[in-house]
Amino acid sequence: MTSYNALAEVYEWLISDAKLTPAEFAASFDDVLSLLPPNAHVLDCSCGTGQLAVGLAGLGMQVVATDASEAMVRRTAELSEEFRAPVRTLRADWQELPDHFDDGTFDMVFCVGNSLHHAVGARGRVAALESMSRLLRRGGRLVLTSRTWELVRARGSRLDISDRLVRRNGRNAVVVYRWEIASHWEEEHHIEIAVAQVDAAGSVLVRSELLSCWPYRYDELAAELHQVGLRTESSTYNPEAENYMVVASKV
Ligand SMILES: C[S@@+](CC[C@H](N)C(=O)[O-])C[C@H]1O[C@@H](n2cnc3c(N)ncnc32)[C@H](O)[C@@H]1O
Repeated sequence: MTSYNALAEVYEWLISDAKLTPAEFAASFDDVLSLLPPNAHVLDCSCGTGQLAVGLAGLGMQVVATDASEAMVRRTAELSEEFRAPVRTLRADWQELPDHFDDGTFDMVFCVGNSLHHAVGARGRVAALESMSRLLRRGGRLVLTSRTWELVRARGSRLDISDRLVRRNGRNAVVVYRWEIASHWEEEHHIEIAVAQVDAAGSVLVRSELLSCWPYRYDELAAELHQVGLRTESSTYNPEAENYMVVASKV
């Protein structure tokens, strides 16, 4: 099963240049953030290394950051300390969230950066979305970003090797994505991600992880959001674009 514990160590090599700092990451959501009241209560429920959560805290919001990976949660707590931007962190799978928070706690829930495909099949995805929906107040919004799996599946299994070195923390790395596309949409798919860091002395340190994922079509996602009591307010879905964002409000 997907753990992200190995990738947590090298995750900055996977974040795009434009979103590296907390402020930049949060700014990429400026449009939806403008819908929030001052001191809004927000949850990032797949926080990764915490750039978004810390960026939101830097804007004065009351932020909770959760993730299934212990190592990711630790990195988020460290980033929060480094930036002196208070974030409450907690290790929790999506389905465990209602055990920790009352229904209607949050004004906005974020599930961004290609996270939802890790939910196990349609049933796991609906359960995850159901948890997110429960935690939103009426009129609160879920902000979800996703790969366009229609495009990814059409390309089939393949290897993507970065055509430039990615430099982070003074170290260069080559990033490799190996896509294992199953015959049918509903089957388990895999993405193997490797970060090969080259140091000044010429030695190579590789961190890699095999991630499981269950892709979904945009239409399926839209129906599932509706099923858990969320109404799609806006969507950037375009079958020819690599990623999209959906904003859905709690009915
Ligand atoms: C591709 S990373 C995205 C991280 C971050 N949101 C970003 O945009 O950089 C996917 C994240 O989803 C988390 N995740 C995977 N399955 C999860 C689950 N069932 N519940 C909560 N988080 C999960 C992983 O641990 C990982 O941190």
